[in-house]
Amino acid sequence: MSSFRSKLPDVGTTIFTVVSRRARELDALNLGQGYPDYEIDPRLTQLVTDAMRTGHTQYAPMEGLMSLREQIAARLTRDPGVTVDPDSQVTVTLGATEAIFSAILATVGAGDEVIAFDPAYDSYEPAVRLAGGRCIRVPLAQPGFTYDWERVRALMSASTRLVLFNSPHNPACTVAGSADLDALAALVREHDALVLSDEVYQPIVFDGGRHHSVLAHPELAQRSFAVFSFGKTLHATGLRIGYCVAPAALTRELRKVHQFNTFSISHPAQHAIAGYLAERPQGAGELAAFFQAKRDRLRTALAGSGFVLPPAQGTYFQLLDFRAFAPPDDLGFAERGQGWKDVLSGRFDLDGDLPVNPDGGLKAFGHPIGASGLRMMFEAWLQLRGEAPEQRALRTVVEGRSLALTHNLGGGPGECVSFVSVVGTERGA
Ligand SMILES: Cc1ncc(COP(=O)(O)O)c(C=O)c1O
Repeated sequence: MSSFRSKLPDVGTTIFTVVSRRARELDALNLGQGYPDYEIDPRLTQLVTDAMRTGHTQYAPMEGLMSLREQIAARLTRDPGVTVDPDSQVTVTLGATEAIFSAILATVGAGDEVIAFDPAYDSYEPAVRLAGGRCIRVPLAQPGFTYDWERVRALMSASTRLVLFNSPHNPACTVAGSADLDALAALVREHDALVLSDEVYQPIVFDGGRHHSVLAHPELAQRSFAVFSFGKTLHATGLRIGYCVAPAALTRELRKVHQFNTFSISHPAQHAIAGYLAERPQGAGELAAFFQAKRDRLRTALAGSGFVLPPAQGTYFQLLDFRAFAPPDDLGFAERGQGWKDVLSGRFDLDGDLPVNPDGGLKAFGHPIGASGLRMMFEAWLQLRGEAPEQRALRTVVEGRSLALTHNLGGGPGECVSFVSVVGTERGA
């Protein structure tokens, strides 16, 4: 055992698990959790139960249940308005996480380079490293977390195998424009590279904006894996159902990994989701308005708080910039509770707007530019306005027991941002 060498020596437990564990330890409200906290639609529960009762308890087809893949294809016809073949192009995966992992393993090998933007979802880089590749991380430019395509161009080479792209972006809350997709297309064409497009927040775009999917970009559609998650849209992350859409040739390669990675995905859950989507085909279309109302409520409540609120174009997060009243030490800000106490003492009406228990540093997303990050769950925050949880939250903060959910990112003090999540369900409850 002493000769054992970790393949990921510097990787600890994901920040999201750490955060939830810490919340339990402190008996604190966990505003930073990265998952929805609502009851799921009872109809979905019923459909899962029915699927169990009717005996869908053996292996599902490796590629995914055809009825679910057909519903996925029908959904993509509505938004983003593309036609995909459910048989050869759609694979049901164990959440988006497995789709990401399997696509990376299927395409990246020893010596390959992969472009990833900072900040980025935390599973990307470990997957690249396990595949034997190397991530080249490109910071999103400030202000606004925009793409510096010239910088990307300078970092791409004959070794570039894959570009990891995410829109709507977690945690930046930005939505890539069509010009970004054109620039990406030109670069991957030039270097004969592939794209893995993480579109798990795809329906959640605000203010009449549009999500530009790689699937709707004629050139990118030919060289991209697009990854989605029912956890996000059905408010049921525990069902662990996601999917990957790619051209047939790429899908074949993906499935070579998928079949030996997970083989197949929960049969009853697939049945239930297929049935649910058939009953509620418009469900995803309601999500943007649902979250936009929450975003607006949060922004209104935080107006005048001292936080600067960058635009939130999509996802269920809201970035908060706390540099006006706290040093760029997100860990101290959250762990000691001092930052929140400072904020609470001067800037908030404690009977009304009470943010507590920040969570989830941008370090979790590998942001290199000195950003400090906090995340709290918007829905839980809204619930604080109710009686008991609000008092409990206040006690938690005043006793200095706020959650340790953040990390200092090293780097300069220039960009202090934190982010807040808003969550909900496809049924718009
Ligand atoms: C950007 C992004 N990609 C992928 C995932 C993983 O999705 P899933 O829960 O379906 O594995 C998440 C979850 O938070 C995410 O935020």
